[in-house]
Amino acid sequence: MTGPRKLYVKSYGCQMNVYDSHRMADTLAPEGYAETATPDDADLIVLNTCHIREKAAEKVYSELGRMRVLKEAAAAQGRDVKIAVAGCVAQAEGEEIVRRAPTVDLVFGPQSYHRLPEMLARAERGKVVDTEFPAEDKFDHLAAPSREATRRRGVTAFVTVQEGCDKFCTFCVVPYTRGSEVSRPTAKIVAEAERLADAGVREIVLIGQNVNAWHGEDESGRASTLGRLLHRLSDIPGVARLRYTTSHPRDMDDSLIAAHRELPALMPQLHLPVQSGSDRILDAMNRKHTRAEYLAVIGRLRKARPDMAFTSDFIVGFPGETGSDFEDTLRLVSEVGYAGSFSFKYSPRPGTPAADMEQLPEDVKDERLQILQREIDRCQAAFNARCEGRTFDVLFDRIGRHPGQIVGRSPYLQPVQVMAPPSLIGEVAPVTVTEIGSNSLFATLNRAPAGALHFAAAEA
Ligand code: SAH
Ligand code: SF4
Ligand code: F3S
Repeated sequence: MTGPRKLYVKSYGCQMNVYDSHRMADTLAPEGYAETATPDDADLIVLNTCHIREKAAEKVYSELGRMRVLKEAAAAQGRDVKIAVAGCVAQAEGEEIVRRAPTVDLVFGPQSYHRLPEMLARAERGKVVDTEFPAEDKFDHLAAPSREATRRRGVTAFVTVQEGCDKFCTFCVVPYTRGSEVSRPTAKIVAEAERLADAGVREIVLIGQNVNAWHGEDESGRASTLGRLLHRLSDIPGVARLRYTTSHPRDMDDSLIAAHRELPALMPQLHLPVQSGSDRILDAMNRKHTRAEYLAVIGRLRKARPDMAFTSDFIVGFPGETGSDFEDTLRLVSEVGYAGSFSFKYSPRPGTPAADMEQLPEDVKDERLQILQREIDRCQAAFNARCEGRTFDVLFDRIGRHPGQIVGRSPYLQPVQVMAPPSLIGEVAPVTVTEIGSNSLFATLNRAPAGALHFAAAEA
């Protein structure tokens, strides 16, 4: 072998895929693979795919067309490039991918990542397709990141604590592509978080398709709750901020709501998807809660933490959605006053119940999406405007575009630009918001922290 082989991983879809892509790279590092930022010089290309909407799934095939050109060019120079499709499209389509795109060498689902080194060895002898749900826990077998890899990935890190979903919303593929709900035990999550904090991570985001359904074992082997897990993680030295995503309204229990009151490290921002503001549609979606129940959860959270902000996901044009159902959704947006939200046109997915219902015309969906997006933008702008003059902590994570400027995140995830020394990157410091931009806030540091003294002296 001449030098390390190169690995290029591209992630589509949700944060679970981002996390998995990192863990794949970590697992291949001891096998002699170094990550590269472009596919051009890669020996192994992994597309970590998303199946949530048709557009997301189809993107993979156009990308595979481009990868085939690279692979053929490399082959002409005597270099062997392997192409792998991982993630939710791999899980959902399996063999079909190799039939449609013969350039693909390996197809494997989200539960097989720990077998990557062994699958790569097999791929030397022919195509590999692995979409089983194995009995062993992949997290026990995936390698941990090196200190250096963790540092490169920045001051915020994801930790998967829960995978899969048992909710079966009628529009959604996740229960099929990720399987049923599994919670990792507290001890393993704590060990991972300690390692990250030790390498310089300041903010930990617990992730799961239904993260607040987490019910892993505590350190004495009894079933725990996400609220208790957050308490445990807040004890780790160096962890300044905690978040969790994505939550289901039905699983917001008392201990989790109380954690928002009790834990200063737990950020006052929550992504709590509602999908629709109409009870009729919520029922047809099998969301298992009403509009009023959702609003009651929001109310309880605001009571626990008055400065709490919310974001959501919405689907427009679900089968049977009338103009008045849609109006209910619009009213909900302003009633909650979301700090931001994602909105999608309903996309029928193979094998899900809603795909067999009578569909709405595309132009109706298009129009509703536009109207909803305008309303979401209006609410977001209003939320940002309310931040002017406010003081809050910012976690600085990178150098800004202008000289002397650094950028961080507010508690509400807004990017905040501040004139301050780069030594503050990785630190939390209080700022006052002076101006609201279109994509970020501008602020001034409230006081020169210890790390800034040297900078101030140099400026004088
Ligand atoms: N577990 C999360 C969501 C996971 S999918 C939850 O329960 O909220 C992320 C978002 O994609 C969903 O919130 C939904 O708004 C959207 N989505 C899922 N399936 C979709 C479909 N078939 N068409 C359009 N949007 C969809
Ligand atoms: Fe999909 Fe519903 Fe499960 Fe979320 S809760 S992952 S939308 S089935
Ligand atoms: Fe997509 Fe799979 Fe995540 S379908 S949204 S990558 S769980």
